[in-house]
Amino acid sequence: MKLYCNPRDISSYQEIKIGDGGGYKFLIEEGPQKQFLKTFKNVDRTQKYFEYQDFLFKNNINVAKPLETGLISYGKEVLPYVITEFLDAQSMRALLRKNRGKHTQEVLGNILGSSLRKLHSIDYSCLNIPDYDHKKYYLYLCQRTVDRFLDSDFRFEGHEVYIEHIKNADRYLPDIDKVFLHGDLNDGNILIGNDLAPYLIDFNHFKNNGRAAAGYFYIDLRIAQGPLLQFFVKSMIDSYFDNELPKDFFAVANIFNAVFLLNLVGNYPKQKDSAKNLLKAHLVSSNYDLTKPPKWYTNPSPVLSTDYSVDSGTWYCFDHRDSWKIYYPYEGFRDKAMPRQGFKIHISTTLGAAQTTLSIASKILMAKGTAFKHLRNQYYLQKYNTSKGPINGKFMAIYPNNKKEFLELLKELEYGLRDMPEAQLIKSDLRYKQSNIYYRYGAFKGNYIVDNRGNKYKDIRGVGEFVLPSFVKIPDELRD
Ligand SMILES: Nc1ncnc2c1ncn2[C@@H]1O[C@H](COP(=O)(O)OP(=O)(O)O)[C@@H](O)[C@H]1O
Ligand SMILES: [Mg+2]
Repeated sequence: MKLYCNPRDISSYQEIKIGDGGGYKFLIEEGPQKQFLKTFKNVDRTQKYFEYQDFLFKNNINVAKPLETGLISYGKEVLPYVITEFLDAQSMRALLRKNRGKHTQEVLGNILGSSLRKLHSIDYSCLNIPDYDHKKYYLYLCQRTVDRFLDSDFRFEGHEVYIEHIKNADRYLPDIDKVFLHGDLNDGNILIGNDLAPYLIDFNHFKNNGRAAAGYFYIDLRIAQGPLLQFFVKSMIDSYFDNELPKDFFAVANIFNAVFLLNLVGNYPKQKDSAKNLLKAHLVSSNYDLTKPPKWYTNPSPVLSTDYSVDSGTWYCFDHRDSWKIYYPYEGFRDKAMPRQGFKIHISTTLGAAQTTLSIASKILMAKGTAFKHLRNQYYLQKYNTSKGPINGKFMAIYPNNKKEFLELLKELEYGLRDMPEAQLIKSDLRYKQSNIYYRYGAFKGNYIVDNRGNKYKDIRGVGEFVLPSFVKIPDELRD
């Protein structure tokens, strides 16, 4: 995609006033989907931003799809802009403010932690971003922070604890391990989609800041501003590290915290009182010892969001980064070969048996050439199978290519999954024997089914009971 080739007229777009940064934002309708246009001041920076976002998108990181960059005249200014796909989502800040319950925090923290791990594990070497000595630079920043603080007239109970800790920065800061950082990861720059997937936005400040895989995203989330998000942060950390927290994690994180907090005082002198409260809260929660875990960090929380895995061989996985992952024998199968409707099979499972169920069932299905999908991870399984979510009980959905295959699959799946524990009932379907396997007649693509005279009917689903279309019969083999 070419950069800066599109002079655009934005006079007809609707400006929206949101965000913390200085750029203008517009909501534009173009094609079937809304789009989001954001302006920047600096052309070079915008170009890098765009390349970076494009790179992340291509690496399957949840970011808004980058569509176009260019230049626009706005008033007297000529500004670079980026257009991205409009995300139908709300910011995590808004979500957490509305509902700070432990469970919500844990769920959001969990999905975010594993997203960050993914973000930090990308190989960026092809981006050719100039390197510099991060550690040296940060040690300089530490020194400057202490000097400025001591020069100021601001003192608070326990400030020595921070200064002492910062003095040990050299010891605690790990050597460079080449991790790219979002650079401004706060709860306003994480959007949560309707499917509860997190989307990272606003990479203006991304940097190849090296070593800080662990410590840095922590401080960027401003946890220090209050203990209210502790479940969120804890869950994020645990999921980031897959419950194996590095020994020095908090000592490292607190170097960043200390620098952030002391600088806060210098940068916002008017907020001295609130800074004081913040510092106090942070010190109390860390027991005045910045090398140890804070009080709120107790046992590791369960990691929910590792994706279930399928040994998919040459099969094509359609992953549009929502709750489902779909597998087809080859790319294009859905359009070229898959029937539009038929008897489909659903499998329900328990949290403990999900991965085994998927491993067994996917082998059977791939041997037959039958397309299927499964809920991405434990998080979604819980979401769709608990009293809080829209109960439907499905873990896998299967699209047999014809009636014969459908009947064979019922038998083979029942045999393969005979040892699986009894799971949730799928109320919209008929149950096959006493198994976790269910079936109903419906659309494989879209929402309509068609009878043999070409009349269209809505595929009735989600009504909590089995509905058989008037023109369909249950196969004789399944009648008792
Ligand atoms: N692709 C997008 N789709 C929908 N909303 C978006 C998108 N990008 C940004 N926003 C909205 O605009 C706000 C500000 O965007 P952001 O890129 O963070 O700008 P700023 O530099 O002002 O922080 C976000 O908090 C979000 O509400
Ligand atoms: Mg922002």
